[in-house]
Amino acid sequence: MEKLCYGYKGNIKVEVFDSYEGLSEAAADYIAALMLDKPDIILGLATGSSPVGIYDALTRKYEAGELDFSAVRSFNLDEYYPLSPENDQSYRYFMNKNLFDRVNIDKANTRVPSGVAEDVEKECAEYDAALAAAGGADVQVLGIGCNGHIGFNEPDEFFTKGTHKVSLSEATIQANKRFFEKEEDVPRFAYTMGICDIMQAQRVVMVVSGAAKAPVVKQAFFGPVTPRCPASILQLHRDFTLVADEAALAFPD
Ligand code: F6R
Repeated sequence: MEKLCYGYKGNIKVEVFDSYEGLSEAAADYIAALMLDKPDIILGLATGSSPVGIYDALTRKYEAGELDFSAVRSFNLDEYYPLSPENDQSYRYFMNKNLFDRVNIDKANTRVPSGVAEDVEKECAEYDAALAAAGGADVQVLGIGCNGHIGFNEPDEFFTKGTHKVSLSEATIQANKRFFEKEEDVPRFAYTMGICDIMQAQRVVMVVSGAAKAPVVKQAFFGPVTPRCPASILQLHRDFTLVADEAALAFPD
């Protein structure tokens, strides 16, 4: 992997790599260092295509005997509603497949919002209470949606607070239909941590790759802080690292 450069844009630490593998390895190294320092770390985790390389790299470190997940606890950002954990498009299924089933984490210590919880208030309150009781995430992994969403916090008129149920935007349905057999199968709702939950993480690391993300990266981190582009609030986070490839930073004019 080749690190091309690093620097700061305001508060944001930016690291640029020549490949997806390189940026994934670097983000995994960052998380691994935190895990070595704090074996009972609280990991805030994301799904989607972007963090798959991180989970592969963390798995390789585990297999090489470099990492121990036995005391690790995790909280995922979001889950589709209504989807059961057994559904192969659910984020619980994704996490089991891409990380939890590959390392020695105790699944009882892993939380993903329930995709079948019908009592919205109860599910959200319990999720936030568990996160707060754990002391919040030591590090939150993020990707970014092409409309600037983080978790499933869609563009809005205000920044959301805690875990809540959302209607997915048309842009998100269009972006995520690639994972489903047909567009009608994409759930129209989801549970997601709120912006406040994400901002309270001790550290945030976002992985972003590919030219398709360049316009939103420019908007989020080189434009105003606005709930119209939820990720923009990360400009104000005290410890935010953006790990990207060149294409994601090749901004259009
Ligand atoms: C997933 C999540 C989403 C994704 C975003 C980018 O848990 O919270 O915000 O990070 O939709 O998805 P990819 O990485 O597939 O482009």
